Amino acid sequence: FVVKSSLIEPDGGQLVDLVVPEIQRAATVSEAETMPKVRLTKIDLEWVHVISEGWASPLKGFMREDEYLQSLHFNCLRMKNGSVVNMSLPIVLAIDDEVKERIGVSNNVALTGPNDDLVGILRSIEIYKHNKEERIARTWGTTAPGLPYVEEVITPAGNWLIGGDLEVLQPIKYNDGLDHYRLSPQQLRKEFDKRQADAVFAFQLRNPVHNGHALLMNDTRRRLLERGYKNPILLLHPLGGFVKADDVPLDVRMEQHSKVLEDGVLDPATTIVAIFPSPMHYAGPTEVQWHAKARINAGANFYIVGRDPAGIGHPIEKRDLYDPDHGKKVLSMAPGLEKLNILPFRVAAYDTVEKKMAFFDPSRAKEFLFISGTKMRTYARNGENPPDGFMCPGGWQVLVKYYESLQAE
Ligand code: ADX
Repeated sequence: FVVKSSLIEPDGGQLVDLVVPEIQRAATVSEAETMPKVRLTKIDLEWVHVISEGWASPLKGFMREDEYLQSLHFNCLRMKNGSVVNMSLPIVLAIDDEVKERIGVSNNVALTGPNDDLVGILRSIEIYKHNKEERIARTWGTTAPGLPYVEEVITPAGNWLIGGDLEVLQPIKYNDGLDHYRLSPQQLRKEFDKRQADAVFAFQLRNPVHNGHALLMNDTRRRLLERGYKNPILLLHPLGGFVKADDVPLDVRMEQHSKVLEDGVLDPATTIVAIFPSPMHYAGPTEVQWHAKARINAGANFYIVGRDPAGIGHPIEKRDLYDPDHGKKVLSMAPGLEKLNILPFRVAAYDTVEKKMAFFDPSRAKEFLFISGTKMRTYARNGENPPDGFMCPGGWQVLVKYYESLQAE
């Protein structure tokens, strides 16, 4: 018999799954071979992965113009029944004049990977203008030069966007030894059901886990137990797609996260570690909505948010690009995310008196030490240890090894 899942419903009611069934694969390949080809970049392929597994449910492909405009102007998509789902980042595929010319009047195109292998099909396509300046200004709130995703993805991209219904020939794999961590929303839901979770709380991150992060996660668990939940499960969910050059690479972060569980900073019995395949925009309050929405689709009904989520330094001024409190404020009010319980947290910093990471207390501000990514790198590079209680020793050693390897280059 089938046990009915008690997990939160995916956006749109049903999880999108765009992988072609095995028995249809050969026929779909033959069909794709007759279509004009669009070659994907590495980051386009990450978005194909995201869409195909239903992280962006109910989105079924790269956005057509009406979806793009809704996303860009409303941060939401309106469903046929009038309800609204959150969709704060445009998920689009850019092509240049030459590719547009080649597509001509075709209704469908085949998508090929960076190595020209067939990846999938985009059906009932629509081609429309890629208004880059407007897209950048609305997504980031600035067009200042130096935003990593803009420089890497948008500026070099073509002046057209192509939307349509996506089909992928097989699940996207990276063969980097980490694919077993890349659980789809469907696989995660199965796992939560198997563990009989009565609450799932998600933690998005792109940095190594320090004890301040752990404080947020462990405090959430305690609060959920207090509220009467019997079996809350933590989804520790590092972002696996594009990150800026000075962020710690995924393989190193995964090793670091393993140590954090081994060292008992987080409880392995009540934690699932998996990779979120999305690329990173660093678009602050706009992007954190995407981070949260995608986790609804994976079955999370609680979402932790702290200081300056998806934040970044201003590309040309000496300050944070976004107000560090706006991410959690926006998330708590975001249209289309009403069914998700947002758990906002104050900033955590190193308490030099208690010698541990703690929630910042402004009344004794001088006793707190803020350890930024830059400061961490400086410690590691100079062979110094961060203060005791900042990060578990096993996790710290992984970072030291990584930064040493950078210096050796
Ligand atoms: S993010 O781009 O994934 O948001 P990061 O990995 O730095 O970046 O943060 C993961 C989560 O931890 C986010 O919810 C962020 O707000 C929160 N966070 C990071 N550092 C702190 C801190 N010192 N105090 C409170 N929350 C924090």
